[in-house]
Amino acid sequence: MMANIYLPYGTTEGQTAKISEYISEVVRAHGHDAQTADIKQTGDTIPDGFDAVIVGASVHMGKHEDYVRDFVRKNGDALKRLPSALFSVSLAAHGDAENAESYVEKFEHETGWRPAQVGLFGGALLYTQYGFLKRHMMKKIAGDKGTLDTDTSQDYVYTEWDGVKRFAEDFLDKL
Ligand SMILES: Cc1cc2nc3c(=O)[nH]c(=O)nc-3n(C[C@H](O)[C@H](O)[C@H](O)COP(=O)(O)O)c2cc1C
Repeated sequence: MMANIYLPYGTTEGQTAKISEYISEVVRAHGHDAQTADIKQTGDTIPDGFDAVIVGASVHMGKHEDYVRDFVRKNGDALKRLPSALFSVSLAAHGDAENAESYVEKFEHETGWRPAQVGLFGGALLYTQYGFLKRHMMKKIAGDKGTLDTDTSQDYVYTEWDGVKRFAEDFLDKL
């Protein structure tokens, strides 16, 4: 049966938006309907008529966007009633799974939502798009980690799209 899937997301530099769009394409390729929604722009409720929800958020300074946390709190009933999943975008997801998981645990604790399926996806280091201070701060953090690139004349994307595709297909399989 065809499902209509809502994909609300929070994004600060745009990578989570790209991942959400990619998931929506996978969903459509399997014959379902999908609608992505930038929570900052679309407001704070899940519209009627959707059969399932995939929430996306990214990590900055150790936590996901506050407005995604608020969105999940407000829509807790719908998220618990409908098949739902969360994906979390961070640099920790590239080589530091323990930290990536700890961000999600904190988010689950703050929202009271424990999604049946969670995806941890590597984010991006967009050195050329950051301002001076942010660029140097991110280079320092990346250097300390050891698993990340530090040439600030380039941007790096650590998202593994095959893993994103598998996440989406696993979600669809369970519907
Ligand atoms: C100012 C800043 C702080 C960040 N803090 C963290 C962090 O604490 N932990 C982490 O794993 N990634 C951190 N990141 C990496 C982001 O999660 C990554 O860049 C991601 O792609 C952002 O997704 P978005 O573009 O959808 O906002 C940070 C990035 C920036 C620019």
